[in-house]
Amino acid sequence: MIHLPTSKPHSDRKDIENLKRLFPFVWEFRGRVLIALLSLVLSKLAIVGMPLVLKEIVDSLDTTKDVLVLPITLLLAYGALRLASSLFNELRDAVFARVRYHAMRRISQRVLSHLYSLSLGYHLDRKTGGITRDLERGTNSLSSILNYLVFNIIPTAAEFMLVAVILLGKYEVRFALVTFITVAVYIAFTLSVTEWRMHFRHKMNAQESEANTYAVDGMLNYETVKYFNNEDYELARYDDTLKGWEQSAVKSQNSMSILNFGQGAVIAVGVTFMMIFAAQGVVSGTMSLGDLVLVNTMMLQLFLPLNFLGIIYRALKYSLADMDMMMRLLDTRQEIVDKENAAQLQVDQAHVQIENVSFSYTEERQILNDVSFEILPGQKVAVVGPSGAGKSTLSRLLFRFYEPDQGRILVDGQDISDVTQASLRENIGIVPQDTVLFNQSIFHNIHYANQEASLEDVQNAARVANIHGFIESLPDGYDTIVGERGLKLSGGEKQRIAIARVILKNPRILVFDEATSSLDSRSEQSILSSLKEVAMQHTTLVIAHRLSTIIDADSILVMDKGKIVECGTHQQLLKEQGLYAHLWQLQQEEREHKLALETVADAV
Ligand SMILES: Nc1ncnc2c1ncn2[C@@H]1O[C@H](COP(=O)(O)OP(=O)(O)OP(=O)(O)O)[C@@H](O)[C@H]1O
Ligand SMILES: [Mg+2]
Repeated sequence: MIHLPTSKPHSDRKDIENLKRLFPFVWEFRGRVLIALLSLVLSKLAIVGMPLVLKEIVDSLDTTKDVLVLPITLLLAYGALRLASSLFNELRDAVFARVRYHAMRRISQRVLSHLYSLSLGYHLDRKTGGITRDLERGTNSLSSILNYLVFNIIPTAAEFMLVAVILLGKYEVRFALVTFITVAVYIAFTLSVTEWRMHFRHKMNAQESEANTYAVDGMLNYETVKYFNNEDYELARYDDTLKGWEQSAVKSQNSMSILNFGQGAVIAVGVTFMMIFAAQGVVSGTMSLGDLVLVNTMMLQLFLPLNFLGIIYRALKYSLADMDMMMRLLDTRQEIVDKENAAQLQVDQAHVQIENVSFSYTEERQILNDVSFEILPGQKVAVVGPSGAGKSTLSRLLFRFYEPDQGRILVDGQDISDVTQASLRENIGIVPQDTVLFNQSIFHNIHYANQEASLEDVQNAARVANIHGFIESLPDGYDTIVGERGLKLSGGEKQRIAIARVILKNPRILVFDEATSSLDSRSEQSILSSLKEVAMQHTTLVIAHRLSTIIDADSILVMDKGKIVECGTHQQLLKEQGLYAHLWQLQQEEREHKLALETVADAV
C-alpha cells in the first residue's frame, strides 16, 4: 500500500543530494552491502543462464539430429540454475535486512536527537503530530528507497546488461538493438502514462479523505445532527464527494488497463521482431531452434521485473518526497547553540543578575523592555504583575530557551550565553505555570528529576510537596499512571508533583511560576511553609498572582507591559500607593470574601 504525502512536497527537492546523505548510513555495513550485491549478481547470472541451458536442451532434443538421447546433465543444470537464482535472491534479502533496518534506526535516532536540540520556539510553532508524521514517513521512505534500488532497479539494470552482452556476443547486432529499443520505448511509455494516471489517484485519495472527514465529523456531532434534523443534509454531502470519488476511481482503473495494454503491445511488437529475425536465422541455417527459444525466453524474462515499473516509479516519487521532508527537518537550524568550547557553569553563591534585558518573540511586539534586577545569593525575589506582562518570559530567558535581544543574564558573574546549556539547566529548577506530566507512573514523573534517587528520596520529596498522603491513598500508590499529559490528576495535584520533582532535583536556583495557583488557600499555606524551608538555602525567583504568597520576599518587582514599574519590599510598596498597593487592596477584599465562603463551607 502506498501512502500519499499529505503535506505538499517541495518543488525544489534535492533528491540526489538526499540520496548522497543516506549513503553513509548504508555504507556503515559495507561488508554486508558487498555480499548482498554479490548475491544479486550471482542470482542474475543464474537467471540469465537458464535460457542458455534451455537452448542447449532444445538443440539436443532437436529431431534433425540422428540419435535422440536424454540430455540429463543439461536438465539437471537447468534445475540447479533455478535453485541457485532463488537461493541467491533470498540470501541477498537476508544479508541486506540488517543494513536496511539499522540505517532506519540510526536515522530515526539522528532526527529525534536533532529535534531535541531545536529551540522551544520551533516546537511551539509546529504541531507535534506533523513532526512525528514526517519522522515516521521519512524513515519508511529510507527503507522503501533502499528496497526499490537494491531489489528492483539495480537487479533489473544488471540483468539488462547481461542480456545485452549475451545477445551482442552470440548473435547479430539487430537482436541487441531490438531489445534495447523495446526496453527504451517500454520505459518511456510506462513513465509517461504513470505520471498522467497519478493525477486520478491523487483526486481519488483526496475525495476519499474528504468523504471520510464528513462522515467522522457527522458522527462526532451525532447529537447536533439529530437536534437539527439534518441527516439528509449530511448524507447528501457525503454522497456528493463519493460521486466524485467514483468517477476518479473508474478513470484510474481504466487508465490502468490502458497502461497494461500498452505495455503488452510494446512487448508483443518487440518479441515479434525478435522471432522474425530468429526464424530467418533458422531458415538460413545460421541459428538453431534452440537459439530461437533462447532469444524468446530471454526477452520475456527481461520484461518480467519491468512489469512493476509503473508502481515502483510512483512509490519512488512519494518516497523521495517523504525523504526530502525528513532531510528538511534535519536541516532546520538550531537557534540556540552552545559557543565553541563553552565552559561549564560554575555555581558557587548562586547570584543572579538580569542586566538591561529586552526581548521580543516576534518583531512586531516587544515583550520585555530594558529589565534589570538581581537576586542576591539565598534571597527570594518575587515578580508580580498583570497577565501578559512578561513574567513567564523571564524564566524562559533564564533557562535560555530564548536569548535576549539586548542585555545579558549572569549567574555568579558568568554570562549564561557563554556556558553550556546543559550546565545551566542543571543548576536551575522550575515549577512551571502549566505542569505537563509524562503518561507514566507518578513515581516515574517525580523520579525524572534525578535518575539516581531512591524510592525513599522520591517519597521524601513528595512529603515536602504535601502530596505523599494523597499518592498513598490511591489504589496503585506511586505506580498510578497519570494519563496523557497528566490529565487524570487535578490541577493542584499536578502542581504538587511538579514541586516534588523540583525538590528532588535540588538545584541552587529555583523558579516558581505560579507554583501554587491551582491550590485552595489551605493547601497553599501548608505548601508555602514547606517551600519556605526549601527556598531558604536557595536563590529563588517567585512569580505570583496572589500577593499574599510573597509578602516575605526580600524584594518584590512589579511588572507591567514588559517593564519594571515598582520595586521594594511589601511594606515599602504599600507605602508607595502605586500599582502594587492597588492590587493588594483588590486581593484583600477578594480574600476576605473567599475566607468567609470557606468558613461557611466548613460549618456545613
Ligand atoms: N512563543 C510566543 N510567541 C509569541 N508571543 C508569545 C509567546 N509566548 C508568550 N507570548 C506573549 O508574550 C507575552 C508575555 O507572556 P508571558 O507568558 O511572559 O506572560 P505572563 O506575565 O507570564 O502572564 P501570565 O500571568 O498570564 O502567566 C504575552 O502577551 C504572550 O501572548
Ligand atoms: Mg506566566
